[in-house]
Amino acid sequence: MKHLLSWKNWENDEIRELLDFAVYVKGHRTYYNGAMMGRSIAMLFQKTSTRTRVSFEAAMTEMGGHAIYIDWATSNFELTDIAFESKYLSRNVSLILARMKKHADLEKIANGSEVPVVNGCCNLFHPCQSLADMLTIQMDAGKIEGTTLCYVGVHNNVVNSLVEITAALGVNLVLVTPLANPGAVIGEVNERPRSGGTLSWEKDVRHAVRNADYVYTDTWVDMEFFNDPAFAAQKAERIDLMLPYQLNHQLLASTKAKVMHDMPIHPGYEISRELVDDPRSIIFQQAENRLDAQKAVMLRLLDRAA
Ligand code: CP
Repeated sequence: MKHLLSWKNWENDEIRELLDFAVYVKGHRTYYNGAMMGRSIAMLFQKTSTRTRVSFEAAMTEMGGHAIYIDWATSNFELTDIAFESKYLSRNVSLILARMKKHADLEKIANGSEVPVVNGCCNLFHPCQSLADMLTIQMDAGKIEGTTLCYVGVHNNVVNSLVEITAALGVNLVLVTPLANPGAVIGEVNERPRSGGTLSWEKDVRHAVRNADYVYTDTWVDMEFFNDPAFAAQKAERIDLMLPYQLNHQLLASTKAKVMHDMPIHPGYEISRELVDDPRSIIFQQAENRLDAQKAVMLRLLDRAA
């Protein structure tokens, strides 16, 4: 059973094919009306979401299928073995999307499921976001291989998926990551780019952005903790440390790089408010591309499961 928990079990040519397919799906949206007729996806959320929930649900609606939203807290997942609930769920639907706090729990869902499982973002990976990111670059640049993407921010789940997918697609990824979320840096993930030489680290953020085609940032504080009073002191420390790395007009004065952000945005922190609506920002295009990327993922996983 092929799942999308991370890009680990996806070969480079499978990822390339999936990206090409996402481009095709975006260019031929009406072709897929009805492609999910009679099918449902279960969408299990342990954490909040706007884009992941909306894009999967809208994608299923546009393709004639149905999405069932399941709030973890009001489900019975917590009362039993996760794999049992997952096995039950998979006897009702064609796909499961899960946003779990821990990757290990996502793996339990996949182990129990009889249908493909998609990671809707866990503590370690966000593969669906990274596919939409590559789709955005492909659509904007007209190519993917050889482009340079500079990520400036905290090393998190999004970074891990970017490391994997850029290695598969030949995108040069430069990381300016003075901080990492606990447990987020996984040595194994960095093995893939080692062979292709697509990954590098840079300390000097001004130098790094100067040579980039795309500059990307993300929240400095994970969604679970952003408004948590218990995390307030750590959040303040992070902001002090990270403010010199904020994407703003001053930092980007020496580059023509386009600006990306996976959203939700915290203006005044990782990015200035002015830059969000600047002509060089492709942030809303990037977010829109979640819809097309999600369609491509669901269609391909069902092809593989047939
Ligand atoms: N980028 C992203 O996954 O957005 P949500 O957390 O709103 O789903």
